[in-house]
Amino acid sequence: MSSSTSQGVVERVQSFVSENKRAVLIGAAAAVVAIGGVAYYASTSRGPGGGDAEKGEYKKDKKKGSKSSKKRKTVKDADGPILEERSPRVADVAEAEDVKLSAEEIVQMPDEERTKVAASLKAKGNGAYQQRKYSIAADLYTRAIEVTPKPEPVFFSNRAACYVNMSPPQYEKVIEDCDEALKLDASYVKALNRRATALEALERVEEALRDFTAATILDKFQNESAAQSTERVLKKLASQKVQEILSSRDRHLPSQTFVSAYFGAFRPRPLPQLPENPSQGDHTLILSLEALAASDYTHSLTLVNEAVEQGISWDAGKAEALNLRGTYKFLMTDVTGAKEDFLASIELQPSLTQTWVKIASVYMEQGDPKKAFECFEEAIKHNADDPDIYYHRGQVLFIMNEFADAAENYTKSTELDDQFVFSHIQLAVAQYKSGNLANSMATFRRTLKGFPQRSEPQNYYGELLLDQQRFEDAVDKFDRAIEIELSRPKPPPVNALPQVNKGLALYQWKQDIGAAEHCCQEALKIDPECEAAVATLAQLSLQQGKIDVAMEMFEKQASLARSEPELMNALTYQFATKAQVEFMTRFPEMANQMSQIARSMM
Ligand SMILES: *[C@@H]1O[C@H](CO)[C@@H](O)[C@H](O)[C@H]1NC(C)=O
Ligand SMILES: *[C@@H]1O[C@H](CO)[C@@H](O)[C@H](O)[C@H]1NC(C)=O
Repeated sequence: MSSSTSQGVVERVQSFVSENKRAVLIGAAAAVVAIGGVAYYASTSRGPGGGDAEKGEYKKDKKKGSKSSKKRKTVKDADGPILEERSPRVADVAEAEDVKLSAEEIVQMPDEERTKVAASLKAKGNGAYQQRKYSIAADLYTRAIEVTPKPEPVFFSNRAACYVNMSPPQYEKVIEDCDEALKLDASYVKALNRRATALEALERVEEALRDFTAATILDKFQNESAAQSTERVLKKLASQKVQEILSSRDRHLPSQTFVSAYFGAFRPRPLPQLPENPSQGDHTLILSLEALAASDYTHSLTLVNEAVEQGISWDAGKAEALNLRGTYKFLMTDVTGAKEDFLASIELQPSLTQTWVKIASVYMEQGDPKKAFECFEEAIKHNADDPDIYYHRGQVLFIMNEFADAAENYTKSTELDDQFVFSHIQLAVAQYKSGNLANSMATFRRTLKGFPQRSEPQNYYGELLLDQQRFEDAVDKFDRAIEIELSRPKPPPVNALPQVNKGLALYQWKQDIGAAEHCCQEALKIDPECEAAVATLAQLSLQQGKIDVAMEMFEKQASLARSEPELMNALTYQFATKAQVEFMTRFPEMANQMSQIARSMM
């Protein structure tokens, strides 16, 4: 919620990606493969909003190209056999009737004869398969493999189909047979699909993704069910990895920009009054709050943990410490731990309205807006004049698209204290979102005048201008914001978002990838952990076929991702790209064809 300032940019990056899908799809052949698919996966993993509609559109396009015979072909193996040659000729079966040959007999037969016998054994196998006699069919294929002088991939693929259909299915054997078939013909789509299904059943998800991806691309995206399988397995893989990472990773603070945006969303309060005989813990708490005021969050975090351990001697101080420790936990995605601290804090000091507001954000993170609104009500009961309450309630309403109520709440917040820049900015944006352009512009102009030394009004006004495609004016505002940020007294935090926004603007305005890239790199110099810069750079690199850089950026994006959806998003890109890079390595000759497919998909 309060993080919506920085999340806004991440959303922008995502919509930038989909807005530029067309452009993204054109490019060097190698890159096109990665991007075509990636853009597609991304558009489906965007969550609520445009994502699904886009997916539908994409699918419609795909359908156009599919053949009318497809319906018949999409019957699953489990429903009935689909073999390469489904109805054996009667003659073949008859010929094969008495074929039971020993190894020596086989060796003595001329090749031509052996080929013929193998073909009839296969035909017989197909017949048995048709009758769902899978063991018998498998046996016949085995004999065909023994007899033939030159094994055909279809023998193995068909035997694999038998193993799939046995109960219980013999997935290990399916994989072995498909391995053989694919050794003989690497682009044998049916074997790829079969092996992928078996791998998925055995939870070998990454390998399944590799095979489904290859099958999808080799089929020129015409097999809807394979494309869906790719997507399903990709999601599975990404979410497994998400759980793995979340459960194992050291909790760490997000980027400086993010943390400062979060704390910046609460008005500073005076340091608490120490009791008469302060304990060591009391002093440590004060040191922690001083570090916080100096934006030295890492230090402040260590100190507040120490302070709580050392023991704080008075209730108001303890409530303050738990509020702060809970906030750090919240920022490090330990939502449960954060909630415990906040609830303990509020019990010690119910009038600390900031804590109510933070509990509300915990409820929002847990998807419970009703409880969140109750917290705001509770906070108002304790101090109806705390401007933070209305600002944060505005934020919640804003993300719920209740722009009129949000605007009212922001206004109330500015009436109580007009020195908090974000209430003004959010008010302007809420007015813009509810279609009130004139009011919005007026609010922005007032805010620019009222806060000449702040970069944020420039930055967000620039975003609004960018949204209206007023590129030149937007870049102008971003430049001004950058100038203000760079002239600010050090130490950090320095806000790198205007740099990223400028890059996006230059890209949309002039299609100048080089300039956009440069802006993101500048942003990373200012704040090496700026998520928006990393995410944008990843996309721009993909687009130019700099797959290595893109992969590195996706990994970095994943390591920076704070929330589960953000992590999921980064990992989805990472795995999709990886699978497609692997495909390109295995099928370099497909590069040309891929760029054609990508073009035809636009
Ligand atoms: C399409 O893909 C599915 C799932 O991977 C597969 O089972 C099916 O055989 C494929 N259809 C064709 C016609 O290749
Ligand atoms: C703020 O939002 C609430 C809805 O949660 C609404 O009832 C109220 O009227 C709004 N305005 C003010 C000034 O609180």
